[in-house]
Amino acid sequence: MKFGHFDDQRREYVITNPRTPWPWINYLGNEDFFSLISNTAGGYSFYKDAKFRRITRYRYNNVPMDNGGRYFYINDNGTVWNPGWKPCKTELDKYECRHGMNYTIITGEKNGIEAETLFFVPLKTLAEVQKVKLTNKNKEAKKIKLFSFAEWCLWNAATDMENFQRNFSTGEVEIEGSALYHKTEFKERRNHYAYYSVNVPIQGYDTDRESFIGLYNEFSEPQAVTAGKPNMSVAHGWSPIASHYIEVELQPGESKEFVFVLGYVEFESRDDKWESKGVINKKPAKETIAKFDTAAKVDAAFMELRGYWDNLLDSYVLKSGEEKLDRMVNIWNQYQCMITFNFSRSASFFESGVGRGMGFRDSNQDLVGFVHQIPPRARERIIDIASTQFPDGGCYHQYQPLTKRGNNDIGGGFNDDPMWLIFGTVAYIKESGDFSILDDMVPFDNQPGTEKTLFHHLTVSFNHVIENLGPHMLPLIGRADWNDCLNLNCFSWDPNESFQTTENNSEGSKAESLMIAGLFVVCGRDYVELCRQIGNNAEADRAEKFVNDMVEAVKNHGWDGEWYLRAYDYYGKKIGSHENKEGKIFIESQGWCTMAGIGLEEGMVKKSLDSVKKYLDCEHGIVLNNPAFTEYVVEYGEISSYPAGYKENAGIFCHNNPWVIIGETVLGRGDYAWDYFRKICPSYTEEISDLHKVEPYVYAQMIAGKDAFKPGEAKNSWLTGTAAWNYYTITQFILGIKPAYSGLEVNPCIPADWKGFEVSRKFRGATYKIEVKNNGVMKGVKKLVVNGTEVAGNIIPMQPAGSVNTVEVIMG
Ligand code: GLC
Ligand code: GLC
Repeated sequence: MKFGHFDDQRREYVITNPRTPWPWINYLGNEDFFSLISNTAGGYSFYKDAKFRRITRYRYNNVPMDNGGRYFYINDNGTVWNPGWKPCKTELDKYECRHGMNYTIITGEKNGIEAETLFFVPLKTLAEVQKVKLTNKNKEAKKIKLFSFAEWCLWNAATDMENFQRNFSTGEVEIEGSALYHKTEFKERRNHYAYYSVNVPIQGYDTDRESFIGLYNEFSEPQAVTAGKPNMSVAHGWSPIASHYIEVELQPGESKEFVFVLGYVEFESRDDKWESKGVINKKPAKETIAKFDTAAKVDAAFMELRGYWDNLLDSYVLKSGEEKLDRMVNIWNQYQCMITFNFSRSASFFESGVGRGMGFRDSNQDLVGFVHQIPPRARERIIDIASTQFPDGGCYHQYQPLTKRGNNDIGGGFNDDPMWLIFGTVAYIKESGDFSILDDMVPFDNQPGTEKTLFHHLTVSFNHVIENLGPHMLPLIGRADWNDCLNLNCFSWDPNESFQTTENNSEGSKAESLMIAGLFVVCGRDYVELCRQIGNNAEADRAEKFVNDMVEAVKNHGWDGEWYLRAYDYYGKKIGSHENKEGKIFIESQGWCTMAGIGLEEGMVKKSLDSVKKYLDCEHGIVLNNPAFTEYVVEYGEISSYPAGYKENAGIFCHNNPWVIIGETVLGRGDYAWDYFRKICPSYTEEISDLHKVEPYVYAQMIAGKDAFKPGEAKNSWLTGTAAWNYYTITQFILGIKPAYSGLEVNPCIPADWKGFEVSRKFRGATYKIEVKNNGVMKGVKKLVVNGTEVAGNIIPMQPAGSVNTVEVIMG
């Protein structure tokens, strides 16, 4: 069952039934000021950091779900309703929510009044702009009452939800004209306030929640709205809010537009904070308000935002003849990559914004889906990430976006982490051609005076693996590898401790990871190639030897007969072997070792992938392990804590399905690769939205696996490495157009019955219009013609910036 449809022309998903199986959300803003908005206008805003600069309040896991957001209430002669259906849930005559590229338009209609609400964060603006257009479709004039509503968060989203003995006394507001200011804690250390304004004179307001809603009322029945009369309340402590009251008269057929601005102001200097004693300096707020004080100005800013996205998405355009594939590659997958780049795993409807900041591992992976969009921002991110590394190559697992400092609470010791810095940096250089980043001076642990070149950071990353090898000369796992839940040194019996941060017993541990081994071979080879590119052959030779040793170690100690082992535990016992009772085979090592092509000649790659097909594949995707764990295994940790079929315990962890897909392309099985790709691709599962539950326009981290109570049910949409990995896989391995140091490599791996496809790709300033023609094969380039001239091999040589080039590729 579907709850809407794609509108590819406008790059929107159009939701036509507000009762989606889960709130279906979108993100506004893409640099500093951000908002989450659901299909019923629920959600919240923040500046840079969802924990430390939360602007509006949101209550996760509420009853009912998704309550609280920016709401417009209309009181039409006693009938109270919202354009987005919630929170009043008054049955609408018409409802539609269009989620687009960083904007959302929600339209509701009731009794001949149509309310169209547009939400977006204009480029380079620290505010969410909301345009409300009211139209009277009746034959007679109407007088209606419009109330806006936003609830302020007391800045720190974590303490906002717990420290009530303080919170209930700190709230402060100011009211001037049509602007309502939230200046809580501004008197003391804060250099920022927020405001909510509208571009017309108001007939009243409320700034105190209890006065507006009523202590025992719900969002669906605010007493001010029901009574049709605001209270002119001024908040002192308790819960400050902002609500405007506007009386609107509409002639038959008449429309009126109102612009609301929900903004944030920050001062660099303390001296600028005040206008006079106790009165905040409103100048910056007024400047922003003035920029959007007419509907025409808002429309222009909206066009600018759309132009921005046209331009971004123009850099990779696919015509495959498969509508569902094209819309993912050209629109939604790229969009999700931008969102994950911005937020890492911090703020979604599954990530509360208070737990996790930017991930060292996560953000590096996000780069491969984003780097072609805005390379300079990728560059900046790499430097930020590398700055949280330690001199020995280890690193903080996460850092806070606001401070850019390592997050001590989460700790470190995840031994896969260092490799991802090589992974991200190489992707950046191949895309941009910018080798100069390697010479940038980057500190360790953000300590001034410790700066070394970024290249040095890559070297210590590489060394970190080889300096931490176990008894089989395979990488020691540390706290965990990519799988946060395979905690081989944790041994936790205490339900009050987190598997992620509990003290580790790595001392004397023999726990080794085949996932890191495969990752090391892939990224190690990248490192070797990079060294050769910059003429550092001595380092390349040194590194190459270690990579070759690792390949041998995997062949000798990492092969179980039909597939690659997953790991060795603390005591040196096999994990992911036919000898195990449960968890006999795992996806991660099959993915990475086949990607690395380890044992390709010996038939290991084929055997491993055949075993994946046999034991891990199911109707909805490839599960993480099989059989699922049905008992808690203290030697393995969190993985066995999950019920069978969910999350890391045999869920379909969509993030790692692409690893197997890339493995299939190494083998040249384009049909298998495509089949796996399609299975988890959101646009292909749109028809089962009722089962799937989450948004059909973005990837979810996990789909319940075959052992689950409800296979096919997805969770954790939006912020997942799945976005970048699938984009990387479809564009660079299935369609096979891959940035290389000397040009664009073309090496598609597709089903034999595909006749071909066309891609327009911008690369280092030039445009390549590539037409791939296929005649019944799955892999292999027979002929490459660039601007009419045949070229040997399968690399399109770099063309001058600004040029438009035609490329013909004949497979065979
Ligand atoms: C989550 C984490 C990621 C981890 C994965 C597997 O997606 O963000 O870092 O690799 O889970 O545990
Ligand atoms: C849990 C999750 C895992 C996630 C980790 C992050 O272990 O299962 O997916 O990466 O938490 O803290």
